Parts: sequence; C-alpha cells; structure tokens
Amino acid sequence: MTTIQWTEAMSVGVEELDQDHKHLIQMINGLHYSDTGFVELFNELLDYVGGHFEREETHLEAIGYPGIEGHRGQHDLFADQVAAMLKQYRAEGFADSDQRVADFLWTWLKGHILIEDLKYAAWTRAKKG
Ligand SMILES: [Fe+2]
Repeated sequence: MTTIQWTEAMSVGVEELDQDHKHLIQMINGLHYSDTGFVELFNELLDYVGGHFEREETHLEAIGYPGIEGHRGQHDLFADQVAAMLKQYRAEGFADSDQRVADFLWTWLKGHILIEDLKYAAWTRAKKG
C-alpha cells in the first residue's frame, strides 16, 4: 500500500496544524484495512479529521482568511464523500477495501494540504509582508 511522509513542503506555517497533518498522515499510514475492522478504523480517523477541520477553520477565522468559505466547503465535501463511501461499503462491501480507501484518502489529503491549505499559508505570508 502507498504510504507518504510529511515534508517541510507541506508546512502551513502553523505548528498546531502541521502537527495535525503529520498525525493524519501517520494515522492513514498506520491503518491496517480489513473487512472486520474497516468501519471502526475509518470512523476513528474521521473523528480526528473532524477535530482537525474545526481547529483549522478556527484558525482561518482568527486570521480573517478571505477564502474561508470555499475552504470550509472543501471540508464539508470531504465529509459528504466519506459518508457516501461508508454507506456504500455497508451496503455492498468493497472487494478492494485497502486500495480504494487508501487511494481516496491519499488523493484527498495530498490535494487538500498541498493545494488548498498551502493557499492560506501563502496568503498569511503575503499579508505579513
Ligand atoms: Fe483544510
């Protein structure tokens, strides 16, 4: 299974949020997918993600980030996609649970941190001048 490592290039310039992202990456790397434990493991991860989104949105509000609504929308969309995925899994199961879930999480995490989260990091740097 694919694993990724956090690198400085992913830093959003806020220690607490970088720690969250590192923890998320670790959690995804550490997931051992199996049909029996899949839903529990996935739910654990989702709880953590929910807490992280809150911390991040609180930060974006605090700094007055103009892109906050779009950013919040991305977080909400992720939650919806995950809910749909879980629903489908409960109904049909996935023959390829490992790969499907890993691909989904990595694609999202990399896309979101590397593109959307880095936008607020760049905005913050520009604002500080
Ligand atoms: Fe985010």
